[in-house]
Order: sequence, then structure tokens, then C-alpha cells
Amino acid sequence: MDTSTTYNYKVVRQFAIMTVVWGIVGMLVGVVIAAQLVWPQLNFDIPWLTYSRLRPLHTNAVIFAFGGSALFATSYYVVQRTCQARLFSNGLAAFTFWGWQVVIVAAAITLPLGITASKEYAELEWPIDLLITLVWVAYAVVFFGTIVKRRVKHIYVANWFYGAFILTIAVLHVVNSAALPVTATKSYSVYPGAIDAMVQWWYGHNAVGFFLTAGFLGMMYYFVPKQANRPVYSYRLSVVHFWALISTYMWAGPHHLHYTALPDWAQSLGMVFSLILLAPSWGGMINGIMTLSGAWHKLRTDPILKFLIVSLSFYGMSTFEGPMMSIKTVNALSHYTDWTIGHVHSGALGWVAMVSIGSLYFLIPRLFGREQMHSIKLIDVHFWVATIGVVLYIVAMWIAGIMQGLMWRAVNADGTLTYSFVESLEAMYPYYFVRLLGGVVFLSGMLIMAYNVIRTIQGNKPVEAAIPQTA
Ligand code: HEM
Ligand code: HEM
Repeated sequence: MDTSTTYNYKVVRQFAIMTVVWGIVGMLVGVVIAAQLVWPQLNFDIPWLTYSRLRPLHTNAVIFAFGGSALFATSYYVVQRTCQARLFSNGLAAFTFWGWQVVIVAAAITLPLGITASKEYAELEWPIDLLITLVWVAYAVVFFGTIVKRRVKHIYVANWFYGAFILTIAVLHVVNSAALPVTATKSYSVYPGAIDAMVQWWYGHNAVGFFLTAGFLGMMYYFVPKQANRPVYSYRLSVVHFWALISTYMWAGPHHLHYTALPDWAQSLGMVFSLILLAPSWGGMINGIMTLSGAWHKLRTDPILKFLIVSLSFYGMSTFEGPMMSIKTVNALSHYTDWTIGHVHSGALGWVAMVSIGSLYFLIPRLFGREQMHSIKLIDVHFWVATIGVVLYIVAMWIAGIMQGLMWRAVNADGTLTYSFVESLEAMYPYYFVRLLGGVVFLSGMLIMAYNVIRTIQGNKPVEAAIPQTA
């Protein structure tokens, strides 16, 4: 077929399938480390299986392999459909797919070996960082090249969010990963002491803001209206949402460094910007949810919409919780506790994973020339399983976290600590078990999804949709 008259669905299909695969792998590692926190002997005294090595494997796999593949797949689909143009370059798009898979496999080998740059969410060593940079530049060329050759005058708001995500991640990655290599597998950050910490959390928080939020908001702005068959509630609000969100996020990073060697004014600045961040975050959430106004009844029968709308509710919840945790006095209790872990997963499982899952259920049948997924019933089962899994996880962590915070600060009349650290650890067992259960439940939902995807693909040929020629 003449490729200039069709969309490039091949790379979208590849990334979409790998999202499911990496989702299962990353969450499986999550379940393993959750089990290790209940039964520490599960590392079998094998260095590669120790908690300290598997934990970064989990975070890298879920954020960059699962979340990253979902973002590549949906951004390539959305940019083509809304620009009515084929991707800028087939070759570069293919390079991003294979390059990203090599990065993931390299991470899966080096992290268990203990090779790490020791920066959270930026653990990969410098040769892999260089490959990430190449893939990211290619991604930017393909994405923005497609915008440039668009055949529709307007640039739909979803592309603004995807574009901001691509540009910001490039800057964050290059600045934070700047390092002096000493061997092929070891490098040292170029930044000293407190500056290193500040750069790291400027990166870390904006990785949350742009990797785990802005890109997924792009997803939301395309797939929610599509699935609801309604226009976005307020296009004007979406533009205000965009500028407000991207201009505020950059300044909130110091809330990760309260009560540290960072200057106090910088900590306060981070806190204030975190509080302001509540407004654009909720503006976006409301815009997404209200897109359903006049069509609420669809929620009763459409499990894909349930995924998308519930993901927005979790987004609203975690972006309320975050600003609260950034208040210094609240952070004095929450920091170092499992409350943070609960917050992370209400964002990561409730928002990031659920909006991706909903979008994939929309996308996959269309990439294989089918009207809908093999089984709608199974999507509904997945929805309930996933929701129960997230709730078990985060409720357990809230209770555990607040309990830890209170036990650590409890003092007797004579000023001595009421509880030893081990006593607080012992008190965690039931909650760690419930978290493990929540994880197993959520993972089983992903397996149901994999089955449904395989049945949807089976016996169907990949399709290449025609680009409308009238625009
Ligand atoms: C308005 C939005 C948000 C604000 C102001 C915010 C604020 C915070 C605060 C104060 C912490 C605890 C820092 C500490 O004590 O160490 C935190 C941790 C974290 N948040 Fe959020 N949060 C927001 C939204 C989100 C969302 C939507 C996600 C995920 C999709 C997320 C992911 C994380 C992660 C991964 C951490 C842990 C970082 C680490 O220590 O490794 N946050 N956030
Ligand atoms: C079956 C699902 C999952 C399970 C069982 C799970 C389990 C865990 C566990 C046990 C930890 C370590 C907590 C600690 O050190 O105390 C963790 C950390 C983390 N997980 Fe997950 N996870 C799951 C899914 C996800 C997903 C889908 C994402 C992101 C999209 C994610 C992002 C993270 C992050 C960012 C951290 C580090 C948090 C921090 O340092 O504050 N997880 N996870």
C-alpha cells in the first residue's frame, strides 16, 4: 500500500503490545518486592534478587517501560490522527521503538547486577543514558516533524501536552544525568552535595510532572472525548490548564527535600508552588470528568469509560494529597513513611496505569481492524479487579504510613522514645500483607487484559487506516 496515504500504525501497534508486556513484567517485580517486605528471606541470599536491586528494577520497568511504551504508542497515534498526517519518518519511528526496547533490556540486566548511578529514577549508567538521549532526540524529531507537516491548521491540545512532555524530559535527562565516567559501568555526578540533591529532585519531581502527568494528560484529552463521543468540556480551560500546569510544576521539586541541607527559602518556595499546583491539576481533572456531562449514563455500560473516569478521580485525589504532603508540618510526619508510597501508587496505579489501560482498550481493536475488544465483559471484570487492587494497596499504605509517623515521634514523659524502630516495623506486617494482596489483585487484572488482547488480535490482520484526503 502507498504509505503516504495511510497512517503509520505499525509502530503504534508495537508500542501498544509492549505496554501490556512491560506492564505485567514491571508489576510482577512490584509484587515480588512487596512480598520481600513481608518475607525478607525471599531474596534467597542471591545478590541479584536483593530488595535494593529489584526496587529500582520495578520503578524503571513500570515508569519507563510500561508508562513510556504507553506514551509512545498513544502520542504517535494521537499526533497522526489529529494532524491528519503520517508520522514524519518511518525509519526514525522504528528506531525509537527498537532503541527503547534495548534501553529497557539493558536496564533489566544492569540493575540486578548492581550497576547504578544511584540517582532515583535516573539509575541507569552513562552508556545507557547516551542511548536514551539518541532515542529521545529521534522521538522529538518524529513528533514535532509530524506537527510541522500537519494538514489541519489547529494543533489539538493533546499534542501540546505530549510536546511539553517530550521537550521537558529531554532537558531533565541531559541536565540530571551529567556525569564523569570513570569506567564503562561507573560514573560520578558532576554536581556536588546539596546542589546534586537539588538537581536530582528538580529532575525527580518534574519526571512525575511531565513523564507521569503531562503525557498522560495528553492521553486523557484525546481518549476521554473519543470514548465518550463528546467534545472536551471546555477547550478554553484546557489551554489555561496547560500553561498553568507547565509553569508551576518546575518550581515544586524542593518539597522532596524538606528539613535537609537545602536552604530554607528554597524549601518554602517548593511548598508554596506545590500548593498552587492544586489549582491547575484540579482544573484538568474537572475538565476531563465534566466532558461526560450529558452522557453520565454511559458510565453504567462502558467499562472503558469507567477506567478513564476513575483514573481521573485518582488523579484528583493524588494531586490533592501531594500539596497537603508538601506542607512542611505535614511532611514532618509523612516523609520516610509508607504514606509517600501510598501517594505514589494512587498516582501510579490509580491514574497512570488506569488511564493507559482505558486508552489501550480503545486503541488495540482499531489497530487490528476490529470494532471492539474480544470481550467487553472481561474489560469490566478487569476494571473492578484493578479498582479493588489499588484501593487495597493505598489504604494499607495510608494506615501504615500514619502509624509509622506517629510511632517514630512518640516520646515518654522523660523524653525517651516510646517505640524502637523494630517495634514500628513489626506493626507494619498486616499492612504489608494487604499491600501485597492489592498488588497480586492488580496484576491478575493485567493478565486478564493480556488474554483479551491476544483474543482480539488472533485471526485479525494489522490494518493501515487511510488519511482523509479532503482536509
Ligand atoms: C499537585 C500534584 C502533586 C504534588 C504537589 C505532589 C507532592 C508530593 C510530595 C510532597 C511528596 C513527598 C515528598 C517526600 O516527603 O519525600 C511526593 C512524593 C511523590 N509523588 Fe507526588 N505530588 C503530586 C502528584 C503526584 C502524582 C500525580 C504522582 C504520580 C503519578 C506523584 C508521584 C510521586 C512520587 C513517585 C513520589 C515519591 C518520590 C520519591 O521520594 O521517590 N505525585 N509528592
Ligand atoms: C502490581 C502493582 C504494583 C506493586 C505491587 C508495587 C509495589 C511496590 C513496592 C513494594 C514498592 C517499594 C515500596 C517501599 O520501598 O517501601 C514500590 C515502589 C514504587 N513503585 Fe510500585 N508497585 C506496583 C505498580 C506500580 C506502577 C504501575 C508504578 C508506576 C507507574 C509504580 C511506581 C512506583 C514508584 C515510583 C516507586 C518508588 C516510590 C518511592 O520511592 O517513594 N508502581 N512499588
